[in-house]
Amino acid sequence: MERRRSNRRVRHRRVQPVREARSSMLHQSIHQFLHQSRVYDDEEEWFRSMFSNSKKEDAIQNQYEFFVQRMGGPPLYSQRKGHPALIGRHRPFPVTHEAAERWLRHMQNALDDSLDIDQDSKVKMMNFFRHTAFFLVAGNELKNQNQNQTQNNQVACKHAANKPAEE
Ligand code: HEM
Repeated sequence: MERRRSNRRVRHRRVQPVREARSSMLHQSIHQFLHQSRVYDDEEEWFRSMFSNSKKEDAIQNQYEFFVQRMGGPPLYSQRKGHPALIGRHRPFPVTHEAAERWLRHMQNALDDSLDIDQDSKVKMMNFFRHTAFFLVAGNELKNQNQNQTQNNQVACKHAANKPAEE
């Protein structure tokens, strides 16, 4: 019998700790936490430049909706933008190991400054961030491998070296 895949509900793994939190509390805490993050004001240009094409308010809105959804709140992100598809959505950016560590440091600092998130939830949120950040690093490495393979598979024309350089 053919399975009706399209009707199957995709269940996202949820980060338990904040699930019990009152909904408004969750919304407020995540919002404040994201506003505390210094990702967009990093002193390193290589890191900051990744965010230079996004408006800070829009970026915060995306992350806010995604985190609320993942932490047991309503599916705000998917209702507005569809499946999070984080690897695909991070495809334009070089999410290297170094970038991940830097991003995580900003998140840790923002959590340290968040007074209304309890310690246990902070630990679980950081575990979730670290897990996802290195999932994105793996996605980035796969992307680079595929790009190299495509380049290697392109057969160079044997006369190319003799052609005059194009202006
Ligand atoms: C590992 C280092 C990371 C880097 C360098 C990075 C960088 C970025 C950049 C440049 C954007 C586009 C600007 C924006 O809309 O915010 C973005 C979007 C986003 N990131 Fe990350 N990110 C990282 C990790 C993560 C992690 C771990 C998560 C989730 C736990 C995450 C969730 C998101 C979401 C939900 C968006 C919005 C996607 C969209 O709707 O277009 N990111 N990220």
